[in-house]
Amino acid sequence: MEEAPASKSAYEALFRAALLIPWSHYLFGLMIILVVIIYNFLEMHFCQDLFTGFRGQPVTLTYSPCSKLYQDVVSKCKILHGRYLSTPWLCSPHIQMLFHHYSGNVPVVNYRRQIFITPDGGTLALDWVINADDAKTPTATVDDALQNDDKNPIIIIIPGLSGDSDSTYVKHLAFKMAKRGWNVLVLNHRGCGGVPLTSDWFYHGTWTGDMRTVIKLLHSQYPEAPLFLVGTSIGANMLIFYLGEDGINVPIAGAAAICCPWDPVICDRFFKRGFKQRFYSKALATGLKGYCNLHKDVMSRLTNWEGIQKSRNFREFNDSSFRVFANYETVDAYNRDSCSSSLVGKVMVPLLCITSLDDPICTNEAIPWDECRINDNVVLATTRHGGHLPFFEGLTANSLWWVRAVDEFFTVLQSIPKKGAEMQVSSVMKDGCLVTQLADGIQHHECFNKHKEDNNNNNNNNNNNIISCAQGVIEIETKCQTRPRKYPLFPNAIYPEMQ
Ligand SMILES: *[C@@H]1O[C@H](CO)[C@@H](O)[C@H](O)[C@H]1NC(C)=O
Repeated sequence: MEEAPASKSAYEALFRAALLIPWSHYLFGLMIILVVIIYNFLEMHFCQDLFTGFRGQPVTLTYSPCSKLYQDVVSKCKILHGRYLSTPWLCSPHIQMLFHHYSGNVPVVNYRRQIFITPDGGTLALDWVINADDAKTPTATVDDALQNDDKNPIIIIIPGLSGDSDSTYVKHLAFKMAKRGWNVLVLNHRGCGGVPLTSDWFYHGTWTGDMRTVIKLLHSQYPEAPLFLVGTSIGANMLIFYLGEDGINVPIAGAAAICCPWDPVICDRFFKRGFKQRFYSKALATGLKGYCNLHKDVMSRLTNWEGIQKSRNFREFNDSSFRVFANYETVDAYNRDSCSSSLVGKVMVPLLCITSLDDPICTNEAIPWDECRINDNVVLATTRHGGHLPFFEGLTANSLWWVRAVDEFFTVLQSIPKKGAEMQVSSVMKDGCLVTQLADGIQHHECFNKHKEDNNNNNNNNNNNIISCAQGVIEIETKCQTRPRKYPLFPNAIYPEMQ
């Protein structure tokens, strides 16, 4: 038996050799392993940027081949046909999020606040940008508004969850559009921006009432001013609900949906996936708990207050708040009815959607590629990097890529005459379908069943029942929704029930 001692001495020799290597070299090796782990954990892309010569990655555009919006407008947008390179020292979606949260290079933007009381007694803070040298602002108040015939475009910003006119991304966008000379309005959600909740109602992912009311008011105050709409995060979800529900009947010249969650059911599953996602889920719940504590007297009446206090993540928070308030049996049922992906096909005005594939909150798995592609009014732009809203660019990280892209899109759109709602020529009700004739020869069909009994003997694949038709509002029940939704009547539509 000579082998055993030989092999033993071989290991011994190896061990003795290993001891001869200075410990600092081991430390160095360990550090390299650590760096690789952190690099992967933070989803950093410095090497990718380096190997592509810091040119960034191309932006992917998804649209219908016959999209006039693409041919007339987006094809002229240089930024959307370019590349996005993130600030080199912010080469990770998570570092971008941290920088956005703690610094953000926020530009100086000053607002003039207009308090608006909604028909149900709620209070909204409407913040108009007044950087004197940067913007012209309407001086009109609600009362003298109708005399104002300002033709200057107005851009309305709808912030995300717990966001308001003070948020970093809102100020970047407000600053840019005010510099362009447009009037900028931030529509703070109920209870946000320092105003109290004054009615038994708060905002959530599908609530379009306040947006509709304010837009109607602005349109009557400034009938000549083109209205543009930008929604971010949950604000983008609400924006698509509004545009999808009202179809052609919106006085909107163009819209942009930035980092939309699209499908809260998929987002919810994503939140459980790993450590990072659970961290964001907790952070979102903490932010929302702050909102609730500010409005304890009202919120404790409308929600499961104890549950909110105990909630440790976004889903638990939703279960005690939005679900209870909106009267659903489960969070999933509530989330299923909150999918803007099912409404994006019904949007009838030019809509640009921007989303980053590395968004750590609204996962790219929820992006409705096909739904965007089949709607001629929608162009979807996706970037490889950018995170959830930051999209910082430049060495000093003082600008956001999507802000520039939206600015260019709206500017080109505004320079092209006759877009959006103005294209409608007529709508008539024919064989249970609403047929809308557009100026460019396209017909839009939306089919409803006239009566519930018709349901059995229909072979048209109709999903809707008209329940009532009164006071300019048509109430429709669709098979896939638990609650009926109200649609306003098209102004020149002729409904059989009304004849
Ligand atoms: C909570 O509700 C909001 C809509 O108000 C939705 O966007 C979000 O995805 C939901 N989150 C979870 C984890 O269910």
